[in-house]
Amino acid sequence: SLVAAKELLIKAQDSGYAVGAFNVENMEMVQAVVAAAEEMRSPVILQTTPSTIQYASVEYFYANIRVAAEQTNVPVVIHLDHGNSFELAMQAYRAGYTSIMIDGSHDGFDDNVEISKAVVDACHPGKVSVEAELGKVGGKEDDLVGGEENLYTDPEKARIFAERTGIDYLAVAIGTAHGVYKGEPHLDLERLSEIRSLVTVPLVLHGTSGVLDDVVKECIRRGICKVNYATDLRIAFTKGVTKYLSEHPDAIDPKKYGAAGRKAVKQYVKDKMCVCGCAGQA
Ligand code: 13P
Ligand code: ZN
Ligand code: NA
Repeated sequence: SLVAAKELLIKAQDSGYAVGAFNVENMEMVQAVVAAAEEMRSPVILQTTPSTIQYASVEYFYANIRVAAEQTNVPVVIHLDHGNSFELAMQAYRAGYTSIMIDGSHDGFDDNVEISKAVVDACHPGKVSVEAELGKVGGKEDDLVGGEENLYTDPEKARIFAERTGIDYLAVAIGTAHGVYKGEPHLDLERLSEIRSLVTVPLVLHGTSGVLDDVVKECIRRGICKVNYATDLRIAFTKGVTKYLSEHPDAIDPKKYGAAGRKAVKQYVKDKMCVCGCAGQA
């Protein structure tokens, strides 16, 4: 069933696990993520970026995810990932998204506070929860290769930011980047603990594809309650499809190779639900 995210993340925070948040790009990936959640008895967050929404629309993704959510009894959240304008946040809100990220991390502190607070004020009356970002996670959300620029979150500023905006959860920049890493990512775990000691709302880890599972687990021990995976799902889907097509060069039915992609994504998501500790929590 479709639910709001706030309670899920507070429960995760109280119990010391994280809820996996998985980016979906098509119907098969929606089915794969929800099937994984059902099999693992896990709460789950499905999310779409602005470029994904541009590919289909918020209405398309909402419809897909709502149907999948209605066919299972594990809690499913539909979340806007890296919302880049107030208007897009409102589009997702009107479409029925139950959680919304407004990413003002590219603006200055005051502008980030302003836009984040505006989205909070618009969403909270409808019981839709809001994620915002302070600092800057490296790389670009929809690019394969993670960029270098990473502006670490300042713990004291994070405290003030959370207080002024009234956001429900906060994305932190501690050394992760979107996309695949060129080398090994070096995470500032001390900084994460410091943020956690000053900020009461659940914390979100971005750029998790390519981060070692043990490092993710340590981040969860230090206060991460939502873990975002995108690039690796895209890779899993594409590898599944590619493998099928290379083994069946005459294949022409999208259902056949679509199912192969779907299966690969489901397995990946199941693995990550164990890493996050959300398996068995629904
Ligand atoms: P990755 O693509 O590195 O998994 O990052 C996911 C993310 O942060 C989505 O917002
Ligand atoms: Zn992200
Ligand atoms: Na990454």
